[in-house]
Amino acid sequence: MKPVRIRTLQSTDAEALLAFELDNREWFERFIDARDAAFYSLQGVTDHIAAYLSDLAAGTWHPFVIEEAGGKLVGRANLKSIDMSERSAEIGYRIAQSACGRGLATLAVKHMIQEAQLHWNLKQLVANVYAGNIGSAKVLERCGFLIEPLPRQEGTEHEYWFGLSI
Ligand SMILES: CC(C)(COP(=O)(O)OP(=O)(O)OC[C@H]1O[C@@H](n2cnc3c(N)ncnc32)[C@H](O)[C@@H]1OP(=O)(O)O)[C@@H](O)C(=O)NCCC(=O)NCCS
Repeated sequence: MKPVRIRTLQSTDAEALLAFELDNREWFERFIDARDAAFYSLQGVTDHIAAYLSDLAAGTWHPFVIEEAGGKLVGRANLKSIDMSERSAEIGYRIAQSACGRGLATLAVKHMIQEAQLHWNLKQLVANVYAGNIGSAKVLERCGFLIEPLPRQEGTEHEYWFGLSI
């Protein structure tokens, strides 16, 4: 198995990130909401990275990438909507289809739990999963998240929320 490292997204990632997103576009759209068509260009991805890094500077978002030796990106993970007063955040992640089943999502979630604790001093993480995304639910449960019994809003019965107190 190829070694990987998880690191913060950086402005020089545009080409590698575009390749990752294009290669896996159909795969991701089976499980999560589709992105706008304008995203899938070098300019679109450059703008996307700039927005994420600006949110990082503002302390509201921490974007990570999972990188193989040689610079290929095989996954992304985000601490989203960081709320320093509530000391909470949401997590999200996506792994290249070709790299699934190697434990990378589990590694990424564990990394984010550690960063949430040590870097951001958070005490609560949540994650939203569509019903039927069994692999994602398994990753969260393995990392200690517990499923919330009720939908958060009416009409969202096809989604589940998971929470972790840290
Ligand atoms: C869900 C996803 C993140 C999992 O990534 P991954 O790196 O393969 O995850 P891991 O290897 O850490 O663990 C996945 C586990 O779920 C299992 N799994 C995956 N799909 C499954 C399925 N349909 N039924 C049962 N188990 C399944 C795997 O076998 C593995 O368990 P194991 O280690 O005991 O064998 C990846 O498939 C993905 O990115 N999907 C598209 C985007 C997405 O759904 N993101 C999450 C949104 S909430």
